[in-house]
Amino acid sequence: MKIAILLIIAYLLGSIPSGVWIGKLFFHKDITKLGSGNIGTTNTFRELGKTAGICVMVIDILKGTIATLLPAFFNISHVSPIIFGLFAVLGHTFSIFDKFKGGKAVATSAGMLLGIHPILFLCAFAFEAIFTYLSSMVSLASMISFPLITILILWTGDYWLGAIGIILTIFIFVRHRSNIQRIKNGDENLVPFGLVYKH
Ligand code: G3P
Repeated sequence: MKIAILLIIAYLLGSIPSGVWIGKLFFHKDITKLGSGNIGTTNTFRELGKTAGICVMVIDILKGTIATLLPAFFNISHVSPIIFGLFAVLGHTFSIFDKFKGGKAVATSAGMLLGIHPILFLCAFAFEAIFTYLSSMVSLASMISFPLITILILWTGDYWLGAIGIILTIFIFVRHRSNIQRIKNGDENLVPFGLVYKH
């Protein structure tokens, strides 16, 4: 019973649509109607500015991290923290507060990694930053970083987390279908920095 309640809490935590709420509360704008329409860090950053983007990133990462720490807070040792993190990722992508729509699972999955393996989180963050700088496309950076970090996880010998990494990588590619199409067409939305962005 306790585990079921905590899994529901993890899902509800993940469901918090930070981009939507920050957009409505502070900008009186609907982020889902702007830019790519995505509710995550990247679209918020491009459409509502740096501060809003950073706030969404921090909140979305923390949703995954706090969810993975729930079992430790409540002395549960027989269920992997990864399961709680996955429920937060599920909430983030199919939010109960946003008609079961949501983000593309990048920040909350990264937050889950922060709760489980902080060093690998830092590696993921570095990959994301490097590839975003090289391409000016966060979507492309995410789709390169997730397979890379999964390889790194498998290399550490943690095959259980590696399997989750493979599943999340596939899920993230599926969630980025529209981005893949735009990248192919050469009209993906760029962030206003990096090597490709023209001032
Ligand atoms: O995390 C989402 C990012 O990879 C892409 O966002 O707004 O460019 O579709 P966006």
